[in-house]
Amino acid sequence: MASNRGLVYLGPHNVEVQTTDYPELSLGTRSCQHGVILKVVATNICGSDQHMVRGRTTAPSGLVLGHEITGQVVEAGQDVEFISVGDIVSVPFNIACGRCRNCKEGKTGICLHVNPARPGAAYGYVDMGGWVGGQAEYVMVPYADFNLLKFPDADQALEKIRDLTLLSDIFPTGFHGAVSAGVGPGSIVYIAGGGPVGLASAAGSQLLGAALVIVGDMIPERLAQARSFGCETVDLTQDATLAEQIDQIVGEPEVDSAVDCVGFEARGHGSESNVERPATVLNSLMEVTRAGGSIGIPGLYVTGDPGGVDENAKVGNLGIRIGLGWAKSHDFTTGQCPVMRYHRPLMQAILHEKTRPAEAVNVTVISLDEAPKGYKDFDKGAAKKYVIDPHGMVAV
Ligand SMILES: NC(=O)c1ccc[n+]([C@@H]2O[C@H](COP(=O)([O-])OP(=O)(O)OC[C@H]3O[C@@H](n4cnc5c(N)ncnc54)[C@H](O)[C@@H]3O)[C@@H](O)[C@H]2O)c1
Ligand SMILES: [Zn+2]
Ligand SMILES: [Zn+2]
Repeated sequence: MASNRGLVYLGPHNVEVQTTDYPELSLGTRSCQHGVILKVVATNICGSDQHMVRGRTTAPSGLVLGHEITGQVVEAGQDVEFISVGDIVSVPFNIACGRCRNCKEGKTGICLHVNPARPGAAYGYVDMGGWVGGQAEYVMVPYADFNLLKFPDADQALEKIRDLTLLSDIFPTGFHGAVSAGVGPGSIVYIAGGGPVGLASAAGSQLLGAALVIVGDMIPERLAQARSFGCETVDLTQDATLAEQIDQIVGEPEVDSAVDCVGFEARGHGSESNVERPATVLNSLMEVTRAGGSIGIPGLYVTGDPGGVDENAKVGNLGIRIGLGWAKSHDFTTGQCPVMRYHRPLMQAILHEKTRPAEAVNVTVISLDEAPKGYKDFDKGAAKKYVIDPHGMVAV
């Protein structure tokens, strides 16, 4: 019997690499002959994982984490027709059946058939259907023909894996944030959050032709990382308000498009930059986005948060000034990124060297055994995107 090892969530601030079950083509009583088993080539640590590891969700102890997966097919179920053993594939973090109404409309982040509790599923994630995570040596991926993006050439894929590994989540997610904020040629964009999603959204905005991309955060290393590929930055620990700092850069206190790459653990601005203020980003984006502009919200908001700042926040009720957004006719786009909408064109942009997202987010490759330390350093605000290489397949 083949063996497996994976990164297991044990409780707040406690993850460990353990021996785990080798995957089967099933989930509980559900047969998954439409699935494949992947040898994991690269699997990334995400800010979404951190929400769980910080104890800010109802994630159960024993959950194998990991929803950002690139792998090589080692076994295909009998119903898989177009994916073969040996293929190197990118796995969208959303699990989608390809058969339901939402999948047929391209809304693969809210598939109706993969999570009995609610629309939408993901690997290794709380409330997301119980699918086993991929921060492991091996993982099972269902509905393989529909979900997987096969790279055209295995050798080339391994050569460019630092960029391609970002196709499972943050590059499409950041790009989706920019697209849904209406970014196009000549746009002036503000991106809240200089974590990997914010930096991927900045790189995505540049690919879309933005004239000016401004990234805001409180962590100096992350702001420096944003400047390293041509972004302007706003330091939210300063007393000057966000609008005032945007005014200094743009010449007016508003932008065309804004993207929330922070989510519900947002901190306040200025003297409150060490205090959690979950609605700060949403409210400040309404303030600085021009009337008629759009706001992309990939940052995660939850329906249950045991660590919420008050009783309202604990159930996801935030003090949002919707009257302001209404008065300015803002568009808002929330939810999981439907990765499949973007991963193929973004793959082509990477393969044809039109974009280098790995440089933007500072991809840093680590072994599976180094993953618990990676979680700690990422939590401290390292300006890095940690990519776990469980089999030593990524050239250093
Ligand atoms: N919608 C999706 O499909 C999707 C996919 C992936 C990640 N996400 C979410 O995107 C968010 C960002 O992910 P990440 O990996 O970059 O996480 P991260 O935690 O590394 O980055 C968040 C950054 O926001 C900064 N920040 C806090 N308060 C701020 C404020 N008021 N203004 C500006 N910056 C502020 C933090 O200092 C941090 O650098 C998370 O909520 C994650 O769950 C959503
Ligand atoms: Zn992710
Ligand atoms: Zn579906």
